[in-house]
Amino acid sequence: MSETTQATGRTFTPPAELAAQANVGPEIYDEAARDRLSFWADAAHRLTWDREWDTVLDWSNPPFAKWFVGGRLNVAYNCVDRHVEAGHGEQVAYHWEGEPGDTRTLTYAQLKDEVCRAANALTELGVTAGDRVAIYLPMIPEAVVSMLACARIGAVHMVVFGGFSADALASRITDAGAQVVITADGGYRRGAPSALKPAVDDAVSRVEGVRHVLVVKRTEQDVEWDDSRDLWWHDVVGRQSAEHTCEFFDAEHPLYIMYTSGTTAKPKGILHTSGGYLTQVAYTHWATFDLKPDPDVYWTAADVGWVTGHSYIAYGPLANRATSVMYEGTPETPHRGRWFELIEKYRVTILYTAPTVIRTFMKWGEDVPAGFDLSSLRLLGSVGEPINPEAWLWYHEHIGGGRCPIMDTWWQTETGAHMLTPLPGVTTLQPGSAQHPFPGISAKVVDDEGNELGDDSTGLLVLTEPWPSMLRTIWGDDDRYVDTYWSRFGTDVYFAGDGAKKDADGNIWLLGRVDDVMNVSGHRISTTEVESSLVGHPTVAEAAVVGASDPTTGQGIVAFVILRGNAEAQGEGASGDELVQTLKTHVAKDIGPIAKPRQIMVVQELPKTRSGKIMRRLLRDIAENRELGDVTTLTDSSVMNMIKDKLPAAPSED
Ligand code: PRX
Repeated sequence: MSETTQATGRTFTPPAELAAQANVGPEIYDEAARDRLSFWADAAHRLTWDREWDTVLDWSNPPFAKWFVGGRLNVAYNCVDRHVEAGHGEQVAYHWEGEPGDTRTLTYAQLKDEVCRAANALTELGVTAGDRVAIYLPMIPEAVVSMLACARIGAVHMVVFGGFSADALASRITDAGAQVVITADGGYRRGAPSALKPAVDDAVSRVEGVRHVLVVKRTEQDVEWDDSRDLWWHDVVGRQSAEHTCEFFDAEHPLYIMYTSGTTAKPKGILHTSGGYLTQVAYTHWATFDLKPDPDVYWTAADVGWVTGHSYIAYGPLANRATSVMYEGTPETPHRGRWFELIEKYRVTILYTAPTVIRTFMKWGEDVPAGFDLSSLRLLGSVGEPINPEAWLWYHEHIGGGRCPIMDTWWQTETGAHMLTPLPGVTTLQPGSAQHPFPGISAKVVDDEGNELGDDSTGLLVLTEPWPSMLRTIWGDDDRYVDTYWSRFGTDVYFAGDGAKKDADGNIWLLGRVDDVMNVSGHRISTTEVESSLVGHPTVAEAAVVGASDPTTGQGIVAFVILRGNAEAQGEGASGDELVQTLKTHVAKDIGPIAKPRQIMVVQELPKTRSGKIMRRLLRDIAENRELGDVTTLTDSSVMNMIKDKLPAAPSED
């Protein structure tokens, strides 16, 4: 049993004051269990609909779900206009802070004006409902404004994380068929301006069909300019009217596509739609974080380019009229106390982040948070990977002051919103466990044949009922959607790809991916994608990639490569080190810096089964410096000795 799944013996009951005033109490589980669909219908009633639905769920053609069939709404109206109409226009929607320390405050009224201007601008550029718009921006308010402007006119946004390469951007633009790209000259990262426009220029020059590139001025860097295509945001959006009458769209109207890594080299375009998605992100945000729109200051410290940012920086908090903090930069710039300084400055009450950040803070030491007033915090959240109990306890004590419950939320790009989590006013917390399905969600742990396992057993996590914010398909590839998620146990059981253990008390502990997907700092990266990037380099004949456990990032990418004949000599000595560096840079350029291998080992052979499948388990053992597992199914067990001979005494990092 890994440390992640080990109960500490310590439990934490909900703080009495919080429990007494919590948005949801224990009865919610029974209510949802009694009638799941009317529970979700009640949650949908928290939104404003132009036309009520006829049917809550149509599951007549599994696994293709339709929620709130016949209902009509506008997502942007729900996130912005209705709060202004209800007299909350002066409430702050975002306290935005740039990395250099510049700030912007956006009230709901100002956000509404900006969204309307951007919606008018997109319309002027010929964007209509159903068209796809690519967004490649730093963490600046225009990212959220662009998303909402798309939603307002029924266009489908496709945000690409600013850390991805031109290649990754180009393939996503092509797959989604985007005709407009919204970007910036650059953004601030680690104390310096980091350019974005060159990657867009490169990507757009290689794809068909991009008519316009709308560029936000952020860093004032010099940019190349193509008059036939490029437009400044401040020109085009700036001159628009702040009046825009929104249309209402079908509940199943597509809202966005978000690409995520799967087990093949080609990322999957996860499609989310409107009514069900907004219902579940808004409801979970309200219930899991006990969000109170007025006193709370809420902060999801993540990038808007990931699903966490979509659901819990943009849509959930805005639908709930939250006041949020949005921060452009990295936690260590200009100093390691930057996040804590922001918590103190804005009196943040709820902080939601990833375990990898907590482990980094642990490395830096408890003195850093101790130097700031964090007494405003009342609740904490964790997402992206299993949080090991040690990190949980450190987060609880040194950031939460021992008084803030921690919500360990398990979910995925595909699920759209929280699926397993404790509830702050209800659950006795077990550090390291995501504990229970959210009310209205059916999750089970099953064996390889799909039989449900009892308590105290280990198997695979599945979801056995459709849920409102579920993905509807993979963009342009219904077959892959069915194959990937709904074929292992039939078309009504969703296979999540995660191993899970149920303890004797029925708590669920996540054990990490069971497929060839790595989790590096909470980001999903496919082993196959990195392998195909490596073999795309002229010196590499074959590559095998594994995710080896890493004390800070959860997993680190370790690659084993066999060189082509003519490159082999370079694998030795000093030129070998250079080659390794070249390959690391090649992957970072190809996919993005997050996919850069931590370590690359040049080897003569790779361990394979008789059917030719690479034995990643053995490579992982090597990468983690563990005793080797069973090697009897290898074609040639001396292969492992050859690999071991190649290993440095201790794996080096850089
Ligand atoms: O393996 C699980 C892990 O992250 C995967 C989903 O990654 P992604 O789609 O990028 O979404 C991340 C943000 C929602 C899952 O299959 N994961 C996410 N949250 C947790 C987690 N593993 C354990 N505990 C969590 N709380």
